Amino acid sequence: MCGIVGIVNHGKISIKNDLLKSLKRLEYRGYDSVGYATLEGKVEKEIGEISKFIDQIQDSTTSCAISHTRWATHGGVTKTNSHPHWDCKKNIFTVHNGIIENYQELKTELINKGHVFITETDSEVISHFLEEELKSKNMMDAIKSFINRIEGTYAILVIEKGINKIYAIKKDSPLVLGIGRDRFYLASDIYAFSDSTNKAIFFEDGEFAVVDPDMYTFYNCDGKEIKKEIYDFTWVIPQEESVRDYPHYMLKEIHEQPIASQRLINSLDGEQHDKINKIAELVKKSNRVVFTAAGSSYYASLLGVYFLNRAGINAHTLIASEFQNFMLVDKNTLFIAISQSGETMDVVTATKWAKERGAKIVSLVNVPHSTIQRMSDISLEIHAGPEICVAATKTFTNQVVSLLYLSHLLGFSVNMKTIPSKIDYVIKENEEAIKRLADELYEKKDIYIIGRGLSYPPSREIALKLKEISYIHAEGMMGGELKHGTIALIEPGTPVIALIPGKDFDMYSNAKEVEARGAKVITIANMMDSDFKMDITINDGKFSILAVIIGQLLTYYIAKKKGLPIDKPRNLAKSVTVK
Ligand code: AGP
Repeated sequence: MCGIVGIVNHGKISIKNDLLKSLKRLEYRGYDSVGYATLEGKVEKEIGEISKFIDQIQDSTTSCAISHTRWATHGGVTKTNSHPHWDCKKNIFTVHNGIIENYQELKTELINKGHVFITETDSEVISHFLEEELKSKNMMDAIKSFINRIEGTYAILVIEKGINKIYAIKKDSPLVLGIGRDRFYLASDIYAFSDSTNKAIFFEDGEFAVVDPDMYTFYNCDGKEIKKEIYDFTWVIPQEESVRDYPHYMLKEIHEQPIASQRLINSLDGEQHDKINKIAELVKKSNRVVFTAAGSSYYASLLGVYFLNRAGINAHTLIASEFQNFMLVDKNTLFIAISQSGETMDVVTATKWAKERGAKIVSLVNVPHSTIQRMSDISLEIHAGPEICVAATKTFTNQVVSLLYLSHLLGFSVNMKTIPSKIDYVIKENEEAIKRLADELYEKKDIYIIGRGLSYPPSREIALKLKEISYIHAEGMMGGELKHGTIALIEPGTPVIALIPGKDFDMYSNAKEVEARGAKVITIANMMDSDFKMDITINDGKFSILAVIIGQLLTYYIAKKKGLPIDKPRNLAKSVTVK
């Protein structure tokens, strides 16, 4: 997944202070490399983050430019493979988010027609394809031909040297037009320009637009002009501490969790109360509830299944990328997509598939107006506020809070009101002990986390945190499953974090089994011996949130001890908008 931004106006756009400033707001979508192109034919691109690129280049101005921040899919992280790409004559410049699935076939055809390619990417075929079509067509017809021929996913911006307009084309990858005071924006999502305007037009699949300084025109895939609705979006970013109070966004966002969870509970008691009650009614009326999500959001959905099953609801979940292979849905199914970004392509694809089969679509998202929210019959906002660190922390917690609240409405017993204060307590009472544990574990090659029932999903989530941020191989698994093979990997000193909610003696036994084989067992428990304080005396779901928060802090301090980037870990991006 990548981020794209284009700006067109009559006046002067500063490459540094307008275009790249806007692009930097999309850096969570990928940060392997960055580049831009202008209508004057000026192109600059470089591997690395946007802030470094901004420091390297000289500012300049133009009235029309496109830009791109990359998360590499096809082709290594090199300057040549960075976007923008261009045609043989350097007249057509393109940036692309998505994957051109039939690019090899197209590339061979175009090479046979004499085109010279210089990159290893799939995206480069776009500019050469258009160049070839323009030999016999105008740009409008060339784009129609493109839409008919190309297979895959794309949000594409195209400019031609010397022409003050941007062409924008969308299929599956997100694309939105922003209507600024004296300019038009084209971007992967509204966050690129939400500091400049709250007026946006969202592209639907198969649509394209021609945007010049005076006007924009939308067309359907047949080239027929279409009218589009202008959204006045409100995106109130809650006033929160600036990152300057913290060394990294991850620590800031971990510490924000008491406030963020309270903000959500207030919203569920207030302006979203009708909405979550409607979702509860849909749950009651459905034959079964199926969740889908990816990564941390999937582990939140596993907890949703646990809570709802205990409320007597027939609930299931499956990772989005496999959803169509192992799950059935029909018109009596309530389908719940959980995605903080609302843009994860695997989740978008599964949601589209479920919608086509008549399922009711509900979503839990953090980003308003996101693709998944716009696909939903009802969409709940988790109000975690922008989460900049690639690692999900406060958004995971608020997803679980939303699911606890929903389950509570359906009969699962939980005291919602104490959640923020318990989070605050766990952070304050354990941070120093966690720092000491990080000093012990930071050089370990493997860490195991085991849980059962309520604490199994947290074991998976903590493992994911450790892998993606501290680069330690970690495995979260069911305590009962360890003895069926994996226990062979336990050696003297192997760290095993045991999550023991309440008086789960089976979980306690699993911890003893590995301890008997020399493991260094670290226990997170609330009613038995524990290495950390939790201040909860009942098992109402809070354990799952608090155990993960201890795991978040442990991950942070291990990564800090190792001198790792933390907020932007290698190979990752915040929103995975490719399959
Ligand atoms: C979580 O720390 C990871 N960054 C990743 O697994 C993430 O949860 C996953 O990509 C899903 O993202 P979403 O919630 O935006 O759909």
